[in-house]
Order: sequence, then C-alpha cells, then structure tokens
Amino acid sequence: MRLAQRMEGIGTETAFEAAARARALEAKGVSVVHLEIGEPDFDTPANVRQAAARALERGRTHYAPYPGTPELRAAIAADATARKGFPVDPERVFVTVGGKGVMLYAIEALVDPGDEVLVPDPGYPIYESLVRFMGGTPVPVPIRQSNGFRLDVEELASLVTPRTRMLVINSPANPSGGVLTRGDLEAIAEIAQRHDLAVLADEIYGRILYEGEHVSLASLPGMAERTIVLDGFSKTYAMTGWRLGYAIVPESLAFAFGRLLINSVSCVSTFEQDAAVEALTGPQDAVDAMVAEFRARRDLIVDGLNAIPGITCLRPQGAFYVFPDVSGTGLKGAEFADRLLYEAGVSALAGTAFGGVGVDHIRFSYANSQENIRIALERTATFVAGLKVPA
Ligand SMILES: Cc1ncc(COP(=O)(O)O)c(C=O)c1O
Repeated sequence: MRLAQRMEGIGTETAFEAAARARALEAKGVSVVHLEIGEPDFDTPANVRQAAARALERGRTHYAPYPGTPELRAAIAADATARKGFPVDPERVFVTVGGKGVMLYAIEALVDPGDEVLVPDPGYPIYESLVRFMGGTPVPVPIRQSNGFRLDVEELASLVTPRTRMLVINSPANPSGGVLTRGDLEAIAEIAQRHDLAVLADEIYGRILYEGEHVSLASLPGMAERTIVLDGFSKTYAMTGWRLGYAIVPESLAFAFGRLLINSVSCVSTFEQDAAVEALTGPQDAVDAMVAEFRARRDLIVDGLNAIPGITCLRPQGAFYVFPDVSGTGLKGAEFADRLLYEAGVSALAGTAFGGVGVDHIRFSYANSQENIRIALERTATFVAGLKVPA
C-alpha cells in the first residue's frame, strides 16, 4: 500500500525496541538486568486499584464526557492549583490517553508544515517525531552535562527564527534527570513572550524531584496563556499501563483540544477516571515512599558509576534516569550500550536515542531494585575493565 507522505517523518521510541531485544536475549537463557525501561517498577497504589474495581462494579463502563469526567477535571484543577502555583480552571483541563496524548494534540493543533519547533536534545524522542509528522522542522536545543543538564538560555534565544512557532521544555527531564531553575524558566518565559511562541511544558516528572522546588512555567506572569502543561498519572502513581494523562491548556486552545479528543479517542475510560480521582485526593504516602526509594537508588547508581574509570555521571535532581558520559572508556554511547547488553547482560539505551548531542552518553533508568542495580554496576565495572582504554 502507498503510505501518506507524512509517514516519512514519523520516528519511534527505541526504549520499546531495546526492551524487546533484551527479552529476546533472556528467552535464550541469558541473564539481563533491565535498566532501559522508563517506568516505575512499583505497583499502582492499592487504594487506586480498589477505586477502579469499585467503579467497574458500579457500572462505570460507558462513555465519559470527551474532556474528562467533571469529578476528575475538578480534582486535577485543585491538585494543579495547589502544586503548580497558578489558578487552574477545570474547563482548561483535558484528560488524555497518557501524557503522550497531550504531545500529539498540542503539536497537531499548533504546528503547520514549515514551522520550526525547538526541542530538547537530548530529549524524549516523540516530540521530534510528531513535529516531523506534522511537516514541521524540529530544531534541537542542546542540553549538556557541562551545564548541569539545563538548557543554555542564551543559546536558546539564538536558535529562535521568524519561523519558530513552539518550544518544548521538560523538567525534570528524560533522559538526563536535569531540572530547570526558576531563573531558567523566567528567561524562557521572556524569550517565549518576546517571540510570541507557544510552549509545551512536559511536567510528567514534576513530583519525582529530590531537591529544590518544582516550578511550573505556566505559573510565571503571562505564561498560562501560551503554555500547554503536560502531566499525568504514569510516573507519579506508577500507572504507566493505565494510559492516563492530562493537559492544562490556554483558553484559546480548549476548542482544538476538544475537537482532537473527539476525533481520536472520544474519551478516556470512565472507571479509570474514577480511580484517578482517588489517586489525586487519597493518601499520598505511596508517592512519597516511591520517591524516597528512587533517591536511594539514584545515589547508589551515581556513586557506583563514578567509581568506574572512564565514566562520569552527574547526580540528577529529578526523574529516575542517569545519563553518564562514557567517552573516557574509548567507546561512543551506542557501541557501549550495545556491547554492555551482549557482553555483560545489562540493558541500557544509547544517548543518541534522544538526539545527536548525547553521542558520548548512555541512559540508565534506575526503576529497578537496589539489588539489581548493584548487579548491573558490577557487570558494568567488569565490562569496562575488560576494554582496552586509550592511555
Ligand atoms: C518526558 C516524558 N514525557 C511523556 C511521557 C509519556 O508519558 P505517558 O506514558 O503518560 O504517555 C514520557 C514517558 O516515558 C516521558 O518520559
């Protein structure tokens, strides 16, 4: 069949492919430690699972209103008002299939062929893929280890052209764990206003933060009217398989988001939305315990990696990834990740899965037990010791 021309632009997320590759190896009897997958290894909290079961029993099995149930939109608005620092009107909240749904609708609604969109590099690969799919041009904004994995605001300003339509930011970030400071966000807000840019602010890791405060770009003066906030339940409540996300959009985008929801999924499953209300309004101790455990794992993996000659790893302030520079081992990230899987049984991702800037890096997700992380560190150290490192 002849595919539509726009399919030439669509990319992928190599984490899914890497996981399949690692599983194929395991099926042959090889032991593999999985540090490639970006999902919490915890169970969805029991109160949330029970709320879903009760909703099913109550017959909450029919279509919901397309923007989301009134109860969930109200709960999201209250939670976001409290945590993100700006007043959120429930009418601006749209419940989507995963946080990814927000990315799709924001880019579909705003990007015309020929438009430029500034995307983080390294960054979540779907931003770039969707921009190309819409006929736009992704323009990478370098995020470097030497700058603490924060974008350089002067460099950002230099990349804006008359064709720039939109900017994507992600803090805390995948794959680096970097967190933008309030000062960075103020500078970004000034650039967005000066050049009349829309901003997609991906805050899906906003609660997985180990130091400092989570600042939402939309809370800065004048920014709620040009920012689409992406958030969801996948990471915070270990609900990746439920596929529940949400957008907080400017009033001027509400119509477009509604139409895109109606044209794609009609609505998100009704009983899940009831469970999501429980996630937001019920006890939060499972989230706190998960973040405390992630912090311990972060320290374990950062200290362990830095003890290996040729690897340098920053201590990220958020999310559950590390993005070490492995160039001191003499290997580029892609070869390092490949050989680490086949020669040492540790599955990680090449930095280039997230853009060209990460060529010397690999990404480990530490959403795995401390015991498995220790095994992965031992295997990585043995693997590196066996390499012929240039003097
Ligand atoms: C930065 C970032 N944004 C969005 C998503 C997508 O989240 P969801 O699974 O809710 O679609 C991910 C998932 O890995 C992510 O890392």
